Amino acid sequence: MSDDVRLKVEGLTKRFPGVVALDGVDLTVRAGEIHAICGENGAGKSTLIKMLTGAYTPDTGSIRFEGRDFSRLNPRSAMDAGIACIYQELSLIPHLSVAENIFLGREIYRSRRLRLLDRAAIRARTAALLAELSLDIAPDAKTGTLGIGHQQMVEICRAVRADAKLIIMDEPTAALSEKEAQDLFRIVARVKARGVSVLFISHRLDEVRAHCDRVTILRDGRSITTFDMATASIEAIIQLMVGRSIQNKYPKDAALRGDVILEVEHLRRAGVVEDVSFQLRSGEVLGFAGLVGAGRTETMRCVTGADPRDGGTIRVFGREARIRCPADAIRAGIAFLTESRKEQGLVLIQSVEFNATLVQLGRFSRGGWLSLGLLHEAAHTTVSGLRLRAAGLDTPVGLLSGGNQQKVVIAKWLMSKARIFIFDEPTRGIDVGAKVEVYKLINELAAAGAGIIIVSSEMEEVLGMADRILVMHAGRISAEMERGDATQETIMYAASGLKTVQSPTRLAS
Ligand SMILES: Nc1ncnc2c1ncn2[C@@H]1O[C@H](COP(=O)(O)OP(=O)(O)OP(=O)(O)O)[C@@H](O)[C@H]1O
Ligand SMILES: [Mg+2]
Repeated sequence: MSDDVRLKVEGLTKRFPGVVALDGVDLTVRAGEIHAICGENGAGKSTLIKMLTGAYTPDTGSIRFEGRDFSRLNPRSAMDAGIACIYQELSLIPHLSVAENIFLGREIYRSRRLRLLDRAAIRARTAALLAELSLDIAPDAKTGTLGIGHQQMVEICRAVRADAKLIIMDEPTAALSEKEAQDLFRIVARVKARGVSVLFISHRLDEVRAHCDRVTILRDGRSITTFDMATASIEAIIQLMVGRSIQNKYPKDAALRGDVILEVEHLRRAGVVEDVSFQLRSGEVLGFAGLVGAGRTETMRCVTGADPRDGGTIRVFGREARIRCPADAIRAGIAFLTESRKEQGLVLIQSVEFNATLVQLGRFSRGGWLSLGLLHEAAHTTVSGLRLRAAGLDTPVGLLSGGNQQKVVIAKWLMSKARIFIFDEPTRGIDVGAKVEVYKLINELAAAGAGIIIVSSEMEEVLGMADRILVMHAGRISAEMERGDATQETIMYAASGLKTVQSPTRLAS
């Protein structure tokens, strides 16, 4: 890593109605470094990125890139200058091949006049690039058939092909499995070795610690400090981000387990779920661990009627429940927070309050009339518990930061009167401070007698919050462990299918 300054941002300010998103931000990125930006939800990270890619214009402040003044970037000039951004919503064209996507807009022609593409050249250059970055992806593969991890890598290839000097990644690993994230960091290291700078945003502080050279902390739209990662601990980063230290990242209360409230038997869905049976007790937090694709989400989708099942019975509070669609599940008292943000049923143009109270408006009626006072009060209590950063409860959720939108989804389900909660990747994209608040709310639900299922790819989260853990592998439950017996190793072992399938030991009643 050299000390050459590649990007220098000074005094960048951006206001939105009711919010100062950025307030005099300074940032220096050197050539060939991986530079992290850390901050709470709503701190201004994505807004900063959007100004570096020309999507937003700063109110005041300056941007210098490679010694040139770019205070007013637009998407075209940012790209020409060598700034590329890998967004969460990938911008590849699914029905084109990998090679075609990488050379999109920079096609090589055999005859430009006849618009005759030189497919062989495009393919060969792509193959060379993929080999150089040691990526095991076929140049001819249809992009849409690749997993999200591989699609991200194709985007990185495209940025490298376009000679990007700075590649920006806004929460690239949020939707990746641990394995895919490791592959991503391997590619990032290769790109860095070519002298490219990387600006990296993530709420997973362990990966920031492991892979970044320096970190800049944003808090309430201000840049607090920048330091070398080698000199910092995760605790120090948290302290600077949230302005206080967090003693206990997993504030787990002891469970008071009651009766079985959900019983799933011999659940099947061809090709994804093979004979899955489990029970959930009132007061219990049940964790589902496993690798991406092991069938955890698919199991939950079948239980909640989001997908049809080919067989199996579901009993809720001892009675067989006919669940054919999500509305049946809600009526049976099951709340399902899905892993995909796009599907989470937020009405983006509506307010925070509207969205948070959407599931159970009936709860706030008195004598048949909707009580706006009650509704407002309940929304306010839940939302303030989650440290939501918004101008007000009347802010349209579409204008909130990614993590704050996720908090509204959580609030929405927490306010429903469900007794069974299924949370699929509940804290994805949520900052460390707010995570603790979500866990406290989960404790409260359990203490009030609800049963909670947490599906999570973050092993720490499952280990930290679950009373009992089921591990899935290839559509089956491969192990069951009590809280005290589970370790990262035993879970990994079962998740990779190394253990022979055992009949899960039933809990003594
Ligand atoms: N187009 C917009 N209109 C109004 N307010 C906006 C707009 N874009 C962002 N904001 C506000 O600016 C603030 C910063 O948002 P930003 O998306 O930059 O946060 P972030 O640090 O990326 O958070 P997260 O970790 O949740 O992704 C938030 O209060 C957000 O609601
Ligand atoms: Mg963001």
